[in-house]
Amino acid sequence: MKPVKVGICGLGTVGGGTFNVLTRNKRDISARAGVEIDIIQVGTRRGNSACDLTQTAVVTDIFDVVRNPDVDIVVELIGGTTVARALVLEAIANGKQVVTANKALIAEHGNEIFARAAEQGVSVAFEAAVAGGIPIIKALREGLAGNRIEWLAGIINGTGNFILTEMRDKGRAFDDVLAEAQALGYAEADPTFDVEGIDAAHKLVILASLAFGMPLQFDKVFTEGISKIAPEDVAYAQELGYRIKHLGIAKQTAAGIELRVHPTMIPEKRLIANVDGVMNAVLVKGDAVGPTLYYGAGAGAEPTASAVVADIIDLARNVTVGFEHRVPALGFHPQGQNVQPN
Ligand code: HSE
Repeated sequence: MKPVKVGICGLGTVGGGTFNVLTRNKRDISARAGVEIDIIQVGTRRGNSACDLTQTAVVTDIFDVVRNPDVDIVVELIGGTTVARALVLEAIANGKQVVTANKALIAEHGNEIFARAAEQGVSVAFEAAVAGGIPIIKALREGLAGNRIEWLAGIINGTGNFILTEMRDKGRAFDDVLAEAQALGYAEADPTFDVEGIDAAHKLVILASLAFGMPLQFDKVFTEGISKIAPEDVAYAQELGYRIKHLGIAKQTAAGIELRVHPTMIPEKRLIANVDGVMNAVLVKGDAVGPTLYYGAGAGAEPTASAVVADIIDLARNVTVGFEHRVPALGFHPQGQNVQPN
């Protein structure tokens, strides 16, 4: 069978991690996919000192990757929404399978992107867009597919959780921990997305769309971040036997789906209250299965790459099978019209 050819756009934290995981674990990955998976091109202006690119074709214009007739799967890891949207739409128009880790792109333009992908018979996979390495998209789409989801709640921003944990455990100042999160590659290019809850809101609408079969409605999320939390708030909560956690919550109510992101006081005995540092956790309650909990690293190069590579393996199957056997545009069935009460 012909190898499946991958083109990576963007070689920052996640792009570099993806390149390294795909290269290092190539033999196992190809065995699991049932076909050899090769990175044939990388689009990057800056390169990445963590990656050995000596055997790889590098271009500085990322659009060369989506226009390369040999590329089967385009992996969009540039972040942002304007250029990323244009890139992904062009990749879809060119018949490429697409993998992205871009939660802002999916949350704000996903309805358009999935409609185009369905028209073209290609898939857009986005496991890495929510909760880093935790396979929460697969859990909702596949593992819990037989359930009516009642609610979900999660710590879905690693940077914010890292800041709250360090403030509590070490009494460190907010800005100092944020600077460390940036240096570790956890934070968004614009870290206000992390600390004002926007990143968590992006992720929450994606989870809610899958859980409740509704279109992506980013503008409907009540969003409050952690920037106003002072060290005293964290200390008082602890004195009372609580921990402050920043949660994203999606809940079925009689009036529609409630979507909110805000700091929450959680009794310290609860499992989710003990999810610390960059770790994320998502609780999902299904009517058949009851409550389930998913835990793992929510940010960082290789945890996020783990999810990107899983999507590449999934979509490699789309490349190797005939058109009629393809997995349709992964994930969304936005026929539901649940509306959140204001
Ligand atoms: N800035 C994000 C976070 C990266 O800290 O969770 C992973 O989506």
